[in-house]
Amino acid sequence: MSTIVRSIVISGANERMNTANAAVRPGLFVSFEGIDGAGKSTHIAALADAFRAQGRSVTLTREPGGTPLAEKLRTLVLGDAMDALTEALLIFAARRDHLRQVIEPALARGDVVLCDRFTDATFAYQGAGRGFDEDVLSTLEHWVQAQDDGQLRQPDVTVWFDISPQSAASRLADARVPDRFEAQPLAFFERVAAGYAARAQAAPERFLRIDADADRHTVWQQVTGAFVRRGLLAIMVAPR
Ligand code: TYD
Repeated sequence: MSTIVRSIVISGANERMNTANAAVRPGLFVSFEGIDGAGKSTHIAALADAFRAQGRSVTLTREPGGTPLAEKLRTLVLGDAMDALTEALLIFAARRDHLRQVIEPALARGDVVLCDRFTDATFAYQGAGRGFDEDVLSTLEHWVQAQDDGQLRQPDVTVWFDISPQSAASRLADARVPDRFEAQPLAFFERVAAGYAARAQAAPERFLRIDADADRHTVWQQVTGAFVRRGLLAIMVAPR
């Protein structure tokens, strides 16, 4: 067999193996949370690379957003002043579309779904930060995230970048023009941070707490180490 033909045969076999693996592998839903300025973006991208390097197919997405409709709603929510119920309804409308169009199909294919924020952000920002009624948020959560068996769709793992509101504010001060949330005073972020801490306490098996006050390299070691300990990544991965 010529080298070219052999490599085509081998790559065909690999493709069949990958397809077979994808069929038996359950999807993995990971969300990333933390107050603005916690520095999650670079780590999300690096984690996507790490999962791909281990042969997983990755869907990288974010909230609010992730579909054309949800991205339009994101622009409204981050840009326009509105009352708290309107804000919550738009965020959950975006989430509904995102779940149906992107997250559920990706999980059904066996993808690793890496989602920059999910419903914990709504409880932290709209609930704890804005002081909006958490019972109403729970009702909306039920409407949007209930599955056929009645269970709520939640991330399997939530990586929580826990940073002091003061450090986050000084990181943000060097960044771009703030959106409607980033422009909030420190007291708002103290409430949001407390909201995340309460969510983490209520679901300790789902939350991976990362000390995000640390330098970037140490934060990455914590992230990758936590995934290795849970058996979700095979080996520690060097930072990029
Ligand atoms: P963020 O995820 O930090 O994206 P970027 O890095 O592009 O700024 O910004 C999204 C903002 O939306 C953030 O300030 C938190 C806010 N938000 C809510 O208030 N409620 C929610 O449910 C979600 C998902 C986000």
